[in-house]
This record gives sequence, structure tokens and C-alpha cells, in this order.
Amino acid sequence: MALWQQKQVLSVLLLIILCLVNFVSSHENHFYTAPIVTPLTDSFPHVQVDLGFSKSFGASNIQFLSNGSMATLALDKNSGSGLVSRSRYYYGFFSAAIKLPSGLSSGVVVAFYMSNADVFPHNHDEIDIELLGHDKSNDWVIQTNIYANGSVSTGREEKFYLWFNPTEKFHHYSILWNNYHTVFLVDNIPVREFTHNSKYPSIYPSKPMSLYATIWDGSEWATHGGKYPVNYKYAPFVVSFTDMELSGSKSNPTETPVPSSCGKSLSSSLLLDPVNGPEFMKLSQQQIEAMDWARRKLMFYSYCNDRPRFKVLPPECH
Ligand SMILES: *[C@@H]1O[C@H](CO)[C@@H](O)[C@H](O)[C@H]1NC(C)=O
Ligand SMILES: *[C@@H]1O[C@H](CO)[C@@H](O)[C@H](O)[C@H]1NC(C)=O
Repeated sequence: MALWQQKQVLSVLLLIILCLVNFVSSHENHFYTAPIVTPLTDSFPHVQVDLGFSKSFGASNIQFLSNGSMATLALDKNSGSGLVSRSRYYYGFFSAAIKLPSGLSSGVVVAFYMSNADVFPHNHDEIDIELLGHDKSNDWVIQTNIYANGSVSTGREEKFYLWFNPTEKFHHYSILWNNYHTVFLVDNIPVREFTHNSKYPSIYPSKPMSLYATIWDGSEWATHGGKYPVNYKYAPFVVSFTDMELSGSKSNPTETPVPSSCGKSLSSSLLLDPVNGPEFMKLSQQQIEAMDWARRKLMFYSYCNDRPRFKVLPPECH
């Protein structure tokens, strides 16, 4: 073959390889353009991370940057790290912009969640957003879960692929929790709505909780029983949190909350209980359509579809 022919063959081969790589990566990453929604995150003020939170573990792996408006949390072979809110909240809107560790991060878990397990060890509530690093780089998935009043024998997990690369930029992860429903949102798109059904009061989180932002080693837990453990060759794993929003009704954890009394009939009710107004009672049509989009395209696990796991599905699944 003449040199020019060889070059031509090579460039055609190169083109084919590029096309294949492109196809495979877009196929694996589930990247889509999300529908437009009115951003709920615009309705609430940002709180400096160092004012809203204190260090709960791995203090030496936590740094506050930009005058406290941002925090980085690291996981290395000695420790993970975590922040806990300085206040406890009974209902509210809670949000963080999070940039996940880049590179290979199987077994790494970044959690943004609410819990009161420290105050109610036997009947605690929990609302979880967990970002799970997987066996392939940039293949993070999001898991949401809810426990209420100690219902830990029934995990109510749902898992989604993200429609973007969460290690490249900051994306918003939010929880709206009020007397009507608990809504999980990613970049303001609702991905899950868990309604407060008076028929089963015991499965709705109904006591004040603290908010946590953590990074930890979930090798055993998050990766099919340790199939893809954390590889510390790639440590430290660093996650950044900013644009924190903590707009809730601050509460004494041991008081028994009376749902509608929080902030009722006070002119400052919005400050005391910012998410019980009529605009937060239900999702808008636009939000419902966006949620349908996310669930149709990106949800790959819901406990409500897990027939092998539940002989009798939990009541809210019917
Ligand atoms: C930095 O944070 C402090 C509170 O910790 C605040 O009073 C001050 O205004 C902030 N400075 C700037 C430049 O934002
Ligand atoms: C929550 O659990 C406690 C203790 O187990 C129980 O007394 C209470 O009735 C439960 N609350 C609901 C709403 O089921």
C-alpha cells in the first residue's frame, strides 16, 4: 500500500473508533437535557456552611473556603468526614450544591440526609440522599430512602442514574419536607414524592431532625457486598458543598411536635415554617411532568417494584 493509502485507512479506522467510544460513553452515562422547571432553590436564602453546620467527624478532613460559603470534605484511608447542622428542624427545605470527587470512586458514599437517630434510637426518622460511587469512574448514582418512626426493617430505596456528570460541576440536591409530602429534587427536578398518608401515619417522618453532609467508605454496603471496594490508591476523595439552604422550623428535638401549630397565625409564620404554605402543598403541573420524565428515563430501582424482596409490598406501594 502506498503511504497515502495507509494514511487514509488509518484515518477511517480512527473515525470508527471515535464513533464507537462516543456511542459507548453516551450510552453508559445516561446524559440527557432535562426539562425546564421553576427552581425551588431560588425561593430560599443561602446559609454560610460554617454558620449552619459544625464538624461532626473527621474534622481534620474538613475545610471551609470562601469565607465559609463552601466546604470540602475528604475521605482518605484514615477517615471520612461529616458536618451536622447546628439546629434541628421540623419540616423545611434543605438543599446543597454538591460537586462529587472525580476519578475512580467505587465504594465512596456522599450523603446529604436528615436524621434524629441520636435522639430517638428506637423510633428514629430519616430522609436520605445518598450518592454512590460505582465501579466505573463518573458512574455515580443517586439513592433516596425514607425511614419513619424506627421502620428500619423496610428499606424504601429508589435508585436513579444522573443525567449529567456530577463530578464536573456543582449540581443541586434538595429535600422538601412538610406536613403534606417529602420531595427529593435534583437540579430542581423532583425525582420522588413521598406523600403523608393519614392511613399510615407511622411511615411518615414526623419528628425534628438534624441535617448531615458526609463522605464515607461504603465498600461493604454500597457495592454489592464489597465487590468494588474503595481503592485508596486514588485517595483522598474530596467532595465540595456550597449554596447551602436550611429553611426550616427550628425545633427542640424532644418536644412532641404538633404539626399545624408551627408558626400558625403569626406574621412571622413564613420565617418559622417556610414550607407549609399552599404553594408547597403539592407539585405544580410542570414539576409533575418533570418528575415523570426523570422516573421514566433514569430510575432503575424502586422498592415498590421489588417483588422478590417483599412478599407483601409496603402499603404505600399499592
Ligand atoms: C464572611 O463571613 C462573616 C460571618 O462569618 C460575615 O459577617 C462577613 O460579612 C462575610 N464576609 C464577606 C466578604 O462575605
Ligand atoms: C412511633 O413509635 C412509638 C414507639 O414505638 C409509638 O409509641 C408511636 O405510637 C409511634 N407513632 C406512630 C405515628 O406510629
